[in-house]
Amino acid sequence: MESEKSVEAVEPVGTRRPEIRIRDLHKSFGDNQVLRGIDLDIAQGEVVCVIGPSGSGKSTLLRCVNLLEEPTRGQVFVGGTEVTDPDVDIDAVRRRIGMVFQQFNLFPHLTVTENLTLPQRRVLKRDKARAAKAAAENLERVGLSEKAGAYPSSLSGGQQQRVAIARALAMGPRVMLFDEPTSALDPELVGDVLAVMRMLADEGMTMMVVTHEMAFAREVADRVVFMDGGVIVEDGTPERVIGDPAHERTRHFLSRLLDPARAQVEEERNQGLTGGSP
Ligand SMILES: Nc1ncnc2c1ncn2[C@@H]1O[C@H](COP(=O)(O)OP(=O)(O)OP(=O)(O)O)[C@@H](O)[C@H]1O
Ligand SMILES: [Mg+2]
Repeated sequence: MESEKSVEAVEPVGTRRPEIRIRDLHKSFGDNQVLRGIDLDIAQGEVVCVIGPSGSGKSTLLRCVNLLEEPTRGQVFVGGTEVTDPDVDIDAVRRRIGMVFQQFNLFPHLTVTENLTLPQRRVLKRDKARAAKAAAENLERVGLSEKAGAYPSSLSGGQQQRVAIARALAMGPRVMLFDEPTSALDPELVGDVLAVMRMLADEGMTMMVVTHEMAFAREVADRVVFMDGGVIVEDGTPERVIGDPAHERTRHFLSRLLDPARAQVEEERNQGLTGGSP
């Protein structure tokens, strides 16, 4: 009994089927090599937070998973289907992958319900009743049933983002990708969006989340991946990567994030010592 338990404790999610598999992924824009060989497996039900400095390739990585960007080299599999196979039915692939952006991208001239039903009807060819049912169910999940008839402009940023999450969920995705979903929000609105994401994680949704919310990453992520310069520098539990980073680059990034003022002072001091840059 005892030994079985400890095996379980060591590898709770590693034994599950990989839902997302990324192999030797490269992406260049002209001469700019943005992704330089990414290997990453995300198990079914696993929540992986991706952190790293601006320009490190986090968004490009997410966008390559659902082929909003075409990789220069390498492979991506989602639920066993090779997304990067030139013959793949890309619409079928995208139906399995929900994506939430920093900007909510809701249609301003449509009500909340219409924002949720439109993609279901267009992409999934659902009839009106079926789409309306999924819209209502998912608005309830994000706690916004009472806003069904409202227009986006009458909602707070946090509410709009929860509508955007509900819109993605109404498509019935197998995995959800989030690209800094709370970065555009006033601080007091961040919590409600994170609560919805926490609920999804608890329900067993496979999630890849680019975020600067370290408290969320610590609490909800199974793993944290630190990217810099288009490569994965560290990949491990939140306790390990955030609490006890192995690499200087990770420590530097985290210290800037957690204590920007102090990091600035230290940087200036170091530059002073080394002669610095003009
Ligand atoms: N469509 C594009 N065309 C040309 N260059 C691009 C394109 N998209 C991204 N890049 C470049 O790729 C690099 C990585 O960008 P990316 O948006 O993936 O970084 P990021 O880690 O998400 O940064 P941030 O934290 O600022 O969002 C940057 O140098 C950016 O200028
Ligand atoms: Mg980005």
